[in-house]
Amino acid sequence: MISKDINLAKDILNDHGIIGLPTETVYGLAAKYNDEVAIKKIFELKKRPLNNPLIIHISKIDDLNLVAENIPSKVYELTSKFWPGPLTIILKKKKDISNLVTANQDTVAVRMPNHAMALEIINKLGCPIVAPSANPYMAVSSTSARHVQKYFESQLPIIIDGGNCLKGIESTIIGFEENKIIIYRKGSITREMIEKITNCEVEYYESKHNNITTPGMHKKHYSPKTPLILTDDLESELKKYEKKNIGVISFGEKKDIQNNFVLSQNKNLEEAAFNLYQTFIELDCLGFDLLIIEKMPEEGIGISINDRIKRASIN
Ligand code: TXA
Ligand code: MG
Repeated sequence: MISKDINLAKDILNDHGIIGLPTETVYGLAAKYNDEVAIKKIFELKKRPLNNPLIIHISKIDDLNLVAENIPSKVYELTSKFWPGPLTIILKKKKDISNLVTANQDTVAVRMPNHAMALEIINKLGCPIVAPSANPYMAVSSTSARHVQKYFESQLPIIIDGGNCLKGIESTIIGFEENKIIIYRKGSITREMIEKITNCEVEYYESKHNNITTPGMHKKHYSPKTPLILTDDLESELKKYEKKNIGVISFGEKKDIQNNFVLSQNKNLEEAAFNLYQTFIELDCLGFDLLIIEKMPEEGIGISINDRIKRASIN
């Protein structure tokens, strides 16, 4: 059921239930952070392997101490600038955090979402929640209550409708290693933004490691069912598949080709991020043989959008 009844959502969470929850990035499936019965339901519903840890969502900075310890001072420089917002920070976990949340690691991922309804639910509940993205494992994340309903139908007692997610891609995930900050997942908070606030060296995880140690960092992820091809030369890519029924996703002015869906007419990367998953989910229902998407400019959030497209694409 899609609803705006926050009190009902709170009651369901207090009764070992799980809910669909809006955030500014993507929708989440939420449970109380210390309720193992409910957390197991999330893993089952998503068909997510238990070795893939969850992000804890808090509504006030004091709750950081409830879930993490040995917090570096740089964290507070970042949180005072970016929280509430799309930045998840990996820290040493407090001992009593459930191993289900952290997948038996000694770290925990935390963020404060920038969505009034999410914050109100956490406040009313009086404790943090866990919230992975509201999609079956490896599928495209949901950016509206309707997407969540399409994926899970009656399996969720309530999906809180908080409108379309303004950011449209999952949060940036960072951690600390010696004196460096590592970006594990790219998002709307970019490397440059983090460098500027912390004066710290910031590195992308994959530029240091070729192997994947954290589940969810799979090279393939977030995929529509229709095969998707990423290209920086639309015209020649289209020529290769002339006989196929193709959906073309592009950036900037609409092109004189059939079935062209534009992420942002004015070449605004934030707007492209906002539209990305919605476009994937909608085009996936239109029965195309193939989707071809144009690469975004490799700058700012464009780098994060290209990262998601690469994971979703077959090439
Ligand atoms: O924007 C978001 O972060 C959304 C909304 C709902 O808040 N949530 C989200 O959660 O994207 P999820 O579970 O779909 O992705 C969480 C990612 C996974 O790749 C997981 O492996 C990683 O965070 N993660 C969680 N805890 C971790 C930890 N302790 N160490 C390393 N990676 C961790
Ligand atoms: Mg996810």
